[in-house]
Amino acid sequence: MKLIEVKDYHEMSQVAADYLLSKVKTSDKLTLGLATGGTPQGLYEALINDHNQNRTSYQHVSSFNLDEYIGLSGKHPNSYYHYMNDHLFKHIDIDSENTHIPSGKAVDLQKECEAYDEKIRLHGGIDLQILGIGSNGHIGFNEPGTSFESNTHIVELAESTREANARYFNSIDEVPAQAITMGISSIMKSKEILLLVSGEAKQVAMKKLVEGEISENFPASILNRHEHVTVIADQEALAMVKGLELLNR
Ligand code: PGA
Repeated sequence: MKLIEVKDYHEMSQVAADYLLSKVKTSDKLTLGLATGGTPQGLYEALINDHNQNRTSYQHVSSFNLDEYIGLSGKHPNSYYHYMNDHLFKHIDIDSENTHIPSGKAVDLQKECEAYDEKIRLHGGIDLQILGIGSNGHIGFNEPGTSFESNTHIVELAESTREANARYFNSIDEVPAQAITMGISSIMKSKEILLLVSGEAKQVAMKKLVEGEISENFPASILNRHEHVTVIADQEALAMVKGLELLNR
């Protein structure tokens, strides 16, 4: 993993945007893996600002999102479909036909999972996957204990994840109990991964990622086995990490 150490959330977002934009501007065809949650919001804002100022085009870009809540339709304000339109897609010129998010309302959810991996494969795989990390080490909605071999699948959300995401709902009771997520194997097939980590709430996760063992009990630890991961982390997130040099190996 390579580390880019930044001052704060704002700088993380800008550095991530510059990184992503360099790929968008130099590729004829690009498939992005996208994430939701609080972490990538600043990145998306920076992409929108760039689009408004420089008219960077996304006509040649496709995207696959990591996950979606089961039971929420795309119209629900807390669905990730809604989040992506609101925070990015409607502000840039990406073709909505080229944006993909698993459907949490599919009649046959199992089939939806299989079809999602197949669609990614038919696109030639993900060129650059944007990732956040949960405080329990989850990536996508792959909670601790998920097999490293997993493809896109249905998950029961950990209580800590539902609590962390309750801030977007009226109460924790409204947070869905299940989600569809790209599996760990699906994520690891991405050609390149950009992991964004910011803030005090991620200090322990960051320390475990760098200093801990590779274990299914801490899903993000698998990233140590990927050949092309760049971590953009801010000073607060890195505060507990002792051997920063371990990251640049
Ligand atoms: P956050 O979530 O960006 O809202 O902190 C990250 C994650 O759960 O993967």
